[in-house]
Amino acid sequence: MREDHRTQHQRNNLSIVTTLFTRTTAYIAVALLSYALGYLSRSSPPQPTQAPPPPPPSVFQLANFPTQLDNFRITAHCSNSPLPPHLVFPTILDRVFNGSSPYTNFPSPHLSPLIKKKRTKSSGSMDAVFEQLIKRVKPKVVIEVGAFLGSSALHMVNVTRKLGIQTQILCLDDFRGRPGFKDIIMVNGDVLLLQQFMQNVVYFNATDSVLPVPFSTGSGLEKLCEWGITADLLEIDAGHDFISVWGDINWAYRILRPGGVIFGHDYFTSADNRGIRRAVNLFAEMNNLKIQTDGNYWIIDTAFAK
Ligand SMILES: C[S@@+](CC[C@H](N)C(=O)[O-])C[C@H]1O[C@@H](n2cnc3c(N)ncnc32)[C@H](O)[C@@H]1O
Repeated sequence: MREDHRTQHQRNNLSIVTTLFTRTTAYIAVALLSYALGYLSRSSPPQPTQAPPPPPPSVFQLANFPTQLDNFRITAHCSNSPLPPHLVFPTILDRVFNGSSPYTNFPSPHLSPLIKKKRTKSSGSMDAVFEQLIKRVKPKVVIEVGAFLGSSALHMVNVTRKLGIQTQILCLDDFRGRPGFKDIIMVNGDVLLLQQFMQNVVYFNATDSVLPVPFSTGSGLEKLCEWGITADLLEIDAGHDFISVWGDINWAYRILRPGGVIFGHDYFTSADNRGIRRAVNLFAEMNNLKIQTDGNYWIIDTAFAK
C-alpha cells in the first residue's frame, strides 16, 4: 500500500517537471523566432556613396612630388641682396656687438691671469688643403663653422698674408667646446673658450681680419643668411654627428656665393657612425654636386656640378 502511494507521488513529480520543461522550451523557441524575424526584417543602414578614385597625377606633378627628404630641406628666408665683402665686418659689429669691437680693451684685467698668452693646438687645422683652397678661391670672405681656439682660422690668416689676399674671416662657434672638455679654464660654470680664442687672435695681430660670431651654428647661420652675408669659402667643423652636419651644411650652402667652395674635416674616420660622411654624401647627392677629398677633408666646389 505504501509502495503504491510512493509510485503515484513519483509520477506526479515527473508530470510537473515535464510540463515545466515543455513550457520553458516553447517560450525560448518563440523568443528566438521573434529575434530572428526582427533581425531579418531590419532596415539596413545607408551605405556611404563611394567617391570616384582621384585622377592619376600628371607628369608635372610627379616631377615635383615632395620626397620625404624634401621635408628636411632648409627653406627659411634669406636676403635677396648679398652684402658686398667690405660691409660684412661692419654688419657683424653692428648686429652682434652693438656697434663696438669685442677686442676693445681686451683682455680685461680680471681676465688676463685666467687665459694663456697663446693656446691654439687643434688636429688637422694646418693641413695643406687650406692653402690649396685659398689659392684656388682667393676668398674675400671666409666663414668657419666651428672655430674652437682659432687654430685653422689663424692658419688661414697666415696663408692669406703670404699670398697677399685681403680676406675677412668670420668664426661661428658657441664657444662651449664640448661637455667634459677640461683643457680650458672654467669660471662659475662658464668655460673661457671665447676669451682664449680672442686672445689667440690678439696674439697673432689678426683682429682686423678675424671676428668671432658666438652663437650656435643653427641660429648663427640663419641670421647671416637673413643679413645677406655670404662667403666665398666655407668650412664646416662644428658638431660631428649626422644631424648637426646635415643642418650646418644645408644652412651653409645657402650663404655660399655661387661658385664658392664648401669643405670640412673628419670625412674619413675609423668608424663613420657619427655621420659626417653620410651627411656630406647625402647632401651632394641631393644637390647633384661632386665631392672631392684631400687627406681627411671633404670638398665641394660648386663651380663644378656633377
Ligand atoms: C673640432 S672643433 C673646431 C676646430 C677648428 N675648426 C680648428 O681646426 O681649429 C669644434 C668646435 O665646434 C663648436 N661647436 C660644436 N657644436 C656646435 C654648435 N651646435 N654650435 C656652435 N658651435 C658648435 C665647438 O664649440 C668647438 O669649438
